[in-house]
Amino acid sequence: MIETIADKFQKEREFISNASHELMTPISILQSKIENMFNEEDISDELKVKLLDMQKILNRLKTITKTLLLISQIENDQFIKEDEVNLADLLQEIYDEISIRMEEKDISFAVDISPDTTLKGVNKFLLFNLFFNLVNNAIKYNREGGEIRVTEETVNKNLIISVSDTGIGIGAEELPHIFSRFKKFKRSLLQDSFGLGLPIVKSIAGFHRIEVEVVSEKDRGSTFKLVIPAGLVKK
Ligand SMILES: Nc1ncnc2c1ncn2[C@@H]1O[C@H](COP(=O)(O)OP(=O)(O)OP(=O)(O)O)[C@@H](O)[C@H]1O
Ligand SMILES: [Mg+2]
Repeated sequence: MIETIADKFQKEREFISNASHELMTPISILQSKIENMFNEEDISDELKVKLLDMQKILNRLKTITKTLLLISQIENDQFIKEDEVNLADLLQEIYDEISIRMEEKDISFAVDISPDTTLKGVNKFLLFNLFFNLVNNAIKYNREGGEIRVTEETVNKNLIISVSDTGIGIGAEELPHIFSRFKKFKRSLLQDSFGLGLPIVKSIAGFHRIEVEVVSEKDRGSTFKLVIPAGLVKK
């Protein structure tokens, strides 16, 4: 039998989907076992510290596994696109969830989007995730006292939403790799990063036929542009 490239991709997708799904069960069991140990009466402080460490590692494992599962579910078309989403409202929800991290770094957040801009035929959960990852990166890779700006424009009937930051930027040699899974660059290794944010952005965008473009200059900042086809914009 001749195996086509499409078959290979399909097999890889199924493998990631099954593996990540199967991993969630033992991870959850381990988590509740550690929680139970915490609740035992006579454990020492020393042991508590070790248990906390284990919980942190397990949480990382859980986040990675969940994210892989999400990517595979998107690639297997397991989401429906029937929602209407008002963009200004969506960005407000994201701000409410993440503003504490902006305050910590004294970062300002300006949204210049008409209150009428609404998308249709989309999946709200996934769009939240897409914008959340872009804003999260714009905070994480920004400088103290920096800015984040979200703007809209219409070009050739497509709606273009830009998320710009005044952060560390991305060098030309890194730019071609930022959407690859688990790809991280040295300076972000110290932070709590998995290198899965942009692969998720790419999958969600692709699922909605949205194109993602990046313009970035080292030490000046980055702009992530979403080119949203006119068909997804509610008139
Ligand atoms: N706004 C940005 N400014 C500068 N560099 C960025 C920006 N967004 C992404 N990058 C670079 O691209 C890499 C990949 O980003 P991605 O969001 O996929 O992973 P991460 O932020 O490292 O980890 P995670 O999002 O899983 O926590 C980052 O490690 C960083 O080097
Ligand atoms: Mg990220």
